[in-house]
Amino acid sequence: MSETAAMVRLFFALWPSDELQGELAAWAHQAAGKGRAMRRENIHLTLAFLGATDPELLPMLVERARAVRFAPIRLMLDRVGYWRHNRIIWCGTDNEPQALTALVADLRAGLGGAGIRYDPKPFVTHLTLVREATGLPRTPAWVPLVWEARDFVLVSSVRVEGRISYQVMRRFPAQAG
Ligand code: 2AM
Repeated sequence: MSETAAMVRLFFALWPSDELQGELAAWAHQAAGKGRAMRRENIHLTLAFLGATDPELLPMLVERARAVRFAPIRLMLDRVGYWRHNRIIWCGTDNEPQALTALVADLRAGLGGAGIRYDPKPFVTHLTLVREATGLPRTPAWVPLVWEARDFVLVSSVRVEGRISYQVMRRFPAQAG
């Protein structure tokens, strides 16, 4: 990295529509208890987390992402869960579509092949809905939601007035369907 370049904090994600984000945020708000519901516009599904990255790598990143072929992904968000280790309430699926598994594998392989580092933790389909939670509430009940994802995105994470804000930098559309 050049000595003067400031790092950018990046990740690849599936980004729900405003409407779906609204439904998820409404549930999160009711479920939050003493936790912190995610803001509507921040709700997403991370595919690969790069973290602090040299901006000079951006063209290479975009090239690698554009090379990934995938069909639109139909995801049934059929469950919620709670992870004690990071105290989040999340929603996800017991039926991970093969198209999603393949997208994550191909994207990560493309990044790895270009020497771009990302968090190697295995992918688990989850959208964080509440942080600093103490557990999964009994109510509200979770009502499954269907998500048709037709692209994935490259996102930068910035701190604006003390709050994390995510900015979609690029969209990578599915090929067919
Ligand atoms: P999380 O919601 O489970 O915390 C931006 O931070 C996004 O990248 C979040 O969706 C976060 O997942 C995900 N992420 C994956 N690995 C991460 C890591 N090592 N550090 C921070 N965020 C990570």
